[in-house]
Amino acid sequence: MSEYCERPAYTALAKEFGTPLYVYSKADLDEALLAYRSAFSQLNPLICYAVKANGNLSILQYFAGLGCGFDTVSGGEIARVLQAGGSADKIIFSGVGKSEAEMVFALQAGIKCFNVESLPELERLNAVAGRLGKVAPVSLRINPDVDAQTHPYISTGLKANKFGIAMSVAEEAYRYAAALPHVAVTGIDCHIGSQLIALEPLIEACERLLHLTDRLAEQGIALQHIDLGGGVGIVYRDEQQPDLVQYADAVRRLLDGRKLDLILEPGRSLVGNAGVLLTRVEYVKRGEEKNFVIVDAAMNDLMRPALYQAYHAIENAEDKGLPEIVADIVGPVCETGDFLGKDRRIAAEEGDVLIVRSAGAYAASMAGNYNTRCRAAEVWLDGSGARLIRRRETIEDMLANELCCFRQPERDK
Ligand code: LLP
Repeated sequence: MSEYCERPAYTALAKEFGTPLYVYSKADLDEALLAYRSAFSQLNPLICYAVKANGNLSILQYFAGLGCGFDTVSGGEIARVLQAGGSADKIIFSGVGKSEAEMVFALQAGIKCFNVESLPELERLNAVAGRLGKVAPVSLRINPDVDAQTHPYISTGLKANKFGIAMSVAEEAYRYAAALPHVAVTGIDCHIGSQLIALEPLIEACERLLHLTDRLAEQGIALQHIDLGGGVGIVYRDEQQPDLVQYADAVRRLLDGRKLDLILEPGRSLVGNAGVLLTRVEYVKRGEEKNFVIVDAAMNDLMRPALYQAYHAIENAEDKGLPEIVADIVGPVCETGDFLGKDRRIAAEEGDVLIVRSAGAYAASMAGNYNTRCRAAEVWLDGSGARLIRRRETIEDMLANELCCFRQPERDK
């Protein structure tokens, strides 16, 4: 944690910008990127930050300024990156359901590579590129069928998952792609899952991809890059922090003697622990069976606990010497699943600011308007202080796109 993220600063930030509030620390973000850059220094990879983790324009702008590329999964994310000043020739476009319109947009922008996930997608891309008189650079996302040992909802590299092209048909798919006139085969990629604590599955996936790369080379299909997908997991609670140096060393040994550029697509590990969510206690409700600390942030602000039973550490921004209780920390949304933490030891009273940790990734980017709740504001924190990078949504913003299609009934005179 940087010096700007000391506890007392949070109370002041909550007062200045209101709650719920996301706060991101530049120092923590720098540290996370540096960890990748130094571990992988000998391979000089293109680090394509996974926009889905946190797509705030200022964050993208910051990464672009540091020379990063971007992994995107929609036309919207590509537009974000371009608006933030990211260069198109460092954009990777992943995802299983790319629409024609998205393909056209990406081709016209001139992105670095389409990570293609199926044969029908390959055919569509070839046709769309042909119509535009372009050649689409492609990498095939291979499903290496390794168990990433993570939560089933964020595991993507098994045969049973919807992602990628099966290893058993990969060679045939490459031969097919190589013969298409409007695509240029440039690489190979995989992404086996997120919040990965064990390194073995990542290394095994790399091995399997390289084995395939060799077989393709024998058939005259020479690839220029290998993209190993997302990054390692982070510590939310008591996980063993994966050792990036160990991962990098293993990849370096495997790539040794090969002419392949390396691409990585980390998201969570670059921003996850650089962000917190600040929320204010509305009520402390003591029950017969359970206590509840009811706060002003909810599942629409941070969906991870409701969706994955994910754990986020929660603490009071100030230590006032209050007695500790065991309580569920819950939001105002009308769902039993609306909780930020269960059975937590916490000392808090009405008006206190709580810090929800590890909320830089898959937090603000997954927020919504359920219960017609405005999305939270976001703040960037660096040596020069705090800057608003997303203003708090208003009720007018939320209603702006909706239309009343019926004539208003006559009101009583
Ligand atoms: N590349 C691709 C193709 C991906 O699908 C993902 C994440 C990444 C890169 C980045 O992975 P990371 O470095 O962040 O592990 N909402 C879930 C996580 C979903 C991850 C989806 N794909 C969560 O909150 O845990």
